[in-house]
Amino acid sequence: MSMQHPPRIFLTGFSGTGKSAVAALVAAALGWRALDTDDIIEERSGRSIPDIFARDGEVGFRELEAEALREAAAQVDVVVATGGGIVQSAANRRLMADGGFVVCLEGRQEVLWQRIRDAGGSATERPLLAGPDPLGRIRALKAQRQPFYALADYTIHTDDLGLPQVAKEVLRAWRRLSARVARDPDRLSSEPAAGKAGKDASWVNAESARYPVYVEWGALARLSERLRDAGLSGAAHVISDDHVWHHYGEAVLASLRGAAFEVDSYVVPAGEASKTLTTASRLYEWLASRRAERGHAVVALGGGMVGDLAGFTAATYLRGLPLVHVPTSLLAMVDASIGGKVAVNLSEAKNLVGAFYQPRLVVTDVSALTTLPARELTSGWAEVVKHALIMDPDLLSTLEARVADLRRLEPEVTTTVVRRNVELKAQVVSEDERETTGRRTILNYGHTVAHGLEAASEYEALLHGEAVAVGMRAAAEIGQRLGVTPPALAERQAAVLSSLGLPQDAPGIDPERALAAMALDKKVSGRAVRWVLLEDVGRPVLRDDVPDTLVRKAVCRACGVAEKRGGRRG
Ligand SMILES: NC(=O)c1ccc[n+]([C@@H]2O[C@H](COP(=O)([O-])OP(=O)(O)OC[C@H]3O[C@@H](n4cnc5c(N)ncnc54)[C@H](O)[C@@H]3O)[C@@H](O)[C@H]2O)c1
Repeated sequence: MSMQHPPRIFLTGFSGTGKSAVAALVAAALGWRALDTDDIIEERSGRSIPDIFARDGEVGFRELEAEALREAAAQVDVVVATGGGIVQSAANRRLMADGGFVVCLEGRQEVLWQRIRDAGGSATERPLLAGPDPLGRIRALKAQRQPFYALADYTIHTDDLGLPQVAKEVLRAWRRLSARVARDPDRLSSEPAAGKAGKDASWVNAESARYPVYVEWGALARLSERLRDAGLSGAAHVISDDHVWHHYGEAVLASLRGAAFEVDSYVVPAGEASKTLTTASRLYEWLASRRAERGHAVVALGGGMVGDLAGFTAATYLRGLPLVHVPTSLLAMVDASIGGKVAVNLSEAKNLVGAFYQPRLVVTDVSALTTLPARELTSGWAEVVKHALIMDPDLLSTLEARVADLRRLEPEVTTTVVRRNVELKAQVVSEDERETTGRRTILNYGHTVAHGLEAASEYEALLHGEAVAVGMRAAAEIGQRLGVTPPALAERQAAVLSSLGLPQDAPGIDPERALAAMALDKKVSGRAVRWVLLEDVGRPVLRDDVPDTLVRKAVCRACGVAEKRGGRRG
């Protein structure tokens, strides 16, 4: 076995997620052995688990379980299926993390209950689920354990996957991530209930940095605490735009000042026109005049424009100041603030000068969406729908079921949905920080046509998310014509987009200009366009063989123009 990959894989998660079966498959693929803590307990004690529960209670069981885990963790080249409650002990988590890669298998409680019933249940869970309302018990137990499951190095949602697919995902994560993330044996040790790695934080494990993203309704109130927890002190240089500053500037200043940060701020005019080298150089001068030092934080308070501009400035001033994203638009929360791309525009093209520069932390106050202009909010939902379509069937169902609550920004469901999107984007970014493995490409679903439409209208007619919504419809049409995308899926996509108020065509844009811009994109990148198409929800495929005629058809339809063969109009 190669030096870097840890020689043990631990599978955590609730009963019914398939841990034992998956452990066997993964072990077989690696030529390792599969272990199961429940089996070890029964073998060593010579008693059945229900019997242990009945005579020694859960406490007695947990002691035997810890012993079984110690035994498993002393071996190498093993895949260990663990009991559902094992993660609740910090000592157990340390045992797994030290030289092991910890993968959590997730599932919705209804699905799990169905599977537990079908299979007669796992030995550990059966005693805990006894009683008149097993589904309620599952819900309660899951809720209690969720913060601990969330500490895992990697999470796989198993609802719609067969066991071999889950095993494949485990192997993929182990190959790609384990050498990097498993270095720190204390990484699972934090108690999720307590501040630091708080249960409200999702983590981005990029190659160059690992950082928390706090997603909360009202997160701004604890901004200074989060900065301090991240080890920041001294001065905070806040960069914002005038719209956002009007709503949140004072609150941010007050929070930071109260925590003894030396604070100053620079407010640029709202709008893409501020995202330039000229503005960046004004920011450099301002930072110089404030005697900004290496350890000082730059706080980007605003939408994606501010995030990109302030991020670019932070990345380059003194070769890098610690950056804190405080995203205030939906697009920035679910997309721009995660992943470390920062840039400014040149007159030739957008985002032409930039860097990969990961923030130190991200503080996402979902309640800021209440002041976001309606059209900006609606536009942001497009990226959310995109994440659901390419990665998360559960999220898509939530969007469909809760659309009314989401549109009125009901705090609980909106926060849950934003947090889930952060996790999804974080997962992709963690696997492919610099767009080298192709994994990050799936995020381009809908973007090929979107870029063409945006360029054709000089970024005037459509907001980015609107263009992406139109682009997703075009991708679905192309997918259907190629026999990749089932018609029912295209309809489902159309329904969810329109229920969120998103457009799916862009009348008035010249399709020839859009097609020309797309051809230019292709020329600049020097390779065939890689289309992201959907086989199913959560099953994107990359295709570089989409015929131009299909593209032309879809773009003309999107622009509301009868298709013309070749030639430019006018
Ligand atoms: N870095 C990345 O990975 C990435 C990804 C996607 C987009 N982007 C970039 O993000 C930018 C677009 O982001 P955006 O859509 O957030 O645009 P934006 O930052 O221009 O914000 C849109 C408008 O909403 C206002 N606003 C933002 N939050 C508000 C709030 N809470 N209350 C009231 N008004 C608010 C802004 O002042 C602005 O007028 C583009 O520059 C794009 O290139 C970057």
